[in-house]
Amino acid sequence: MATIQWFPGHMAKARNEVQAKLKQVDLVLEITDARTPEASRNPMMNELVGDKPKIMVLNKQDLADPNVTAQWIRFYESQGTAAIAIDAQHARQLKQIPQLAKKLLHEKIARQQARGIRDPMIKAMCIGIPNVGKSTVLNRLISKNIAVTGNRPGVTKNQQWLKADNSFMLLDTPGILWPKFDDEQVGLKLAFTGAIADNVVNPDDVGLFGLHYFQQRHPDALRKAYHATAADIALPTPDLMVHLAKTNGFGDEYNRMAERVIFDARQGKLGRFTLEVPNEAE
Ligand code: G4P
Repeated sequence: MATIQWFPGHMAKARNEVQAKLKQVDLVLEITDARTPEASRNPMMNELVGDKPKIMVLNKQDLADPNVTAQWIRFYESQGTAAIAIDAQHARQLKQIPQLAKKLLHEKIARQQARGIRDPMIKAMCIGIPNVGKSTVLNRLISKNIAVTGNRPGVTKNQQWLKADNSFMLLDTPGILWPKFDDEQVGLKLAFTGAIADNVVNPDDVGLFGLHYFQQRHPDALRKAYHATAADIALPTPDLMVHLAKTNGFGDEYNRMAERVIFDARQGKLGRFTLEVPNEAE
């Protein structure tokens, strides 16, 4: 696997930005990709967020295996973290986020109401590594790109606040947070789902990783998409790749078959899949 450039300076900057913004919000929406709930997290996140109420938002649930998504939700809840699965492409599903946020913050809301604030405002921010869908979530949550500034306790002037409804607003998302690049498995998972650039990890390795996964977990997808037989699927993964290249019109160019597997998986042509299950993450 190619070595990925690691810039400690950038990490420090991102960390400071997140810390500064955390002080201004009541709640964090940590967005992850439901196909890779742990690999698509920034390794500092738990430590950074600390005791601040948080919702794990497993986005792109439309692409993930629904049974495994349900396992992940139970896993996070068992750790005392609220979790929800959404497809951010559908605004209706996003309504669950403010609802859950209000449930989590009910004590704070009740205290403010007791002080005479009729409709207390909840302030939240979305954080996550690139490509998990933060901008999509943010844009779909806000009613009309209304920036709310100043004149409210705890709201800094000149800071971009976006209003979702009369009692929920979001701070624009802080700078870039990176995944755990130094872990090869994380790199392969993120490359396979397209979360990191294709030149970061060797595409042959990524294709083999993906093919191996489908051999183990979803062999039917290989039967359907590439006419693989049970005997083909029992082959060692590199042999299967070479074989599928031949039977799928790529001749000796097994690397083109690897690219095809990656492409098809990302397009959803191999069905819904999740690359990690909670036990592995523990
Ligand atoms: P980011 O801010 O975290 O970097 O992510 P962003 O919202 O830009 O989303 C990254 C890609 O993921 C986008 O696709 C977006 O449309 C897609 N996406 C976001 N949420 C979901 C979801 O719930 N399900 C699915 N299937 N896709 C989702 P793109 O190809 O990069 O751009 P575009 O084709 O939408 O223009």
